[in-house]
Amino acid sequence: MKESRRPRRGDEVELVIEGVDARGHGVATLSADRVRVPGAVPGARVRAQVRRRRRGAIDADLLETVERGPWFVEPRCAHAASCGGCSFQHLAYEAQLAQLGALLERTLRPLAADGALAIEPVAGCDDPWNYRNKMDFTFANRRWIEPGEEEGADAHFALGLHAPGRHDKVLDVERCDIAFAEASAILATARRLAREQELAPWDLREHAGLLRHLVLRKSFATGEILVSLVTSDDAPAEVEPYAAALLAAHPEITTFVQSVNTRPASIAVGERERVLHGEGFITEELAGLRFRISAASFFQTNTAQADRLARTVARRASTDGTVYDLCCGAGVLGLAAAASASRVVGFELVPAAVADARRNAGANGVANARFVEGDLAATLPEFDGPPPDVCIADPPRAGLHPRVIAALRRLRPARLVYVSCNPAAAVRDLLPLRSDGYRVVRVEPLDLFPHTPHLECVLTLEGPAEAR
Ligand SMILES: C[S@@+](CC[C@H](N)C(=O)[O-])C[C@H]1O[C@@H](n2cnc3c(N)ncnc32)[C@H](O)[C@@H]1O
Repeated sequence: MKESRRPRRGDEVELVIEGVDARGHGVATLSADRVRVPGAVPGARVRAQVRRRRRGAIDADLLETVERGPWFVEPRCAHAASCGGCSFQHLAYEAQLAQLGALLERTLRPLAADGALAIEPVAGCDDPWNYRNKMDFTFANRRWIEPGEEEGADAHFALGLHAPGRHDKVLDVERCDIAFAEASAILATARRLAREQELAPWDLREHAGLLRHLVLRKSFATGEILVSLVTSDDAPAEVEPYAAALLAAHPEITTFVQSVNTRPASIAVGERERVLHGEGFITEELAGLRFRISAASFFQTNTAQADRLARTVARRASTDGTVYDLCCGAGVLGLAAAASASRVVGFELVPAAVADARRNAGANGVANARFVEGDLAATLPEFDGPPPDVCIADPPRAGLHPRVIAALRRLRPARLVYVSCNPAAAVRDLLPLRSDGYRVVRVEPLDLFPHTPHLECVLTLEGPAEAR
């Protein structure tokens, strides 16, 4: 391509990848254009082909890595090219943290009052492998064929993860290096037994077949392992011998649950549950508190980093007054903050999570916490208990509803501890509070999901002196 004109669709270009975007795609600059190249590693020199251009942004397909650059590492996982779950595996872990930090800094810039935000370096995992305490594997009768497989290979059974962008095909995962250490062996046995016992995997198009999901969870505190087998029917004559054989092969499994999902939607939580072995739950520890986790409970997937997150939030939310925990889930953050507070009020939409939160408070002897069930957009404006001195907010990726922001502006807590998994949504939510005089006094990012572009961060805001 000649230097004089701007690149068009189909052109081949050579680029040095400078960083990543929020989806983990490599980004480079070409004249005035920003070029996005999925799969390209920061620091690498690549050849790419322009797929489309839109308002100063170009999407290009990676053709060849000409030089790998200083941060390239050989991916550990045999499935790295086809799985798509760990899009950063080619990047040295220290470089992943640096890239995530740089991206966060750019995204949060609108919140900086005098041009600077106190963003701490991203706290990485001590061990970025085998960190996940939960994996949800899918059974399917259409296996994703890996490039280079010989023709005619059997493709009628798979147990693993969806191939990227393919809801109808599943990659047969042999080993997953981010799952807890025992998970891969259990997965392999579960696959072998299903085939030996001729159990039908789910057909994602026809909505037929028995086996749907295999969910594996582990408590890092106690070592307990929970297996949840999601099936389309009760089918005890098939499921019980299958469970017995899996338990015989893996005595490390402490509890086995069958969950029945008769609906077409492919979710790993059924309408009814049957405990076939053990107690039906495992117990995990975070921030010195114990939490009961059943097959359907939400729980952060990286125990070591979730512990750090809960302790960080508890430190920042420390007060002898009232703490509100908005979007509290099973209550982890609010309960961690309860020791110094006079009272904690948790707000949560999902009834099962509220029930978990109440039980978790009771089991940990926390007597000063109560929980309000319902949509925060309605429950927070209507709540007539004591107003908050400190608010914790840990919303889902979409962030907080405008009505919740409006309620926070009326309540004027002295401090807000906002936990974000989506910094762009955090900026949108927090800008109105900034114009009310709140200042971001600290940003503490943590990597909960090594080898992926996701980042969690704790933003601490202090209100103006006259706030409450
Ligand atoms: C990111 S999770 C945080 C959970 C919890 N803080 C923890 O660390 O385990 C977000 C939570 O917000 C809840 N949620 C989502 N929309 C909500 C709403 N409109 N009102 C109240 N809670 C909501 C979800 O059910 C989920 O439990």
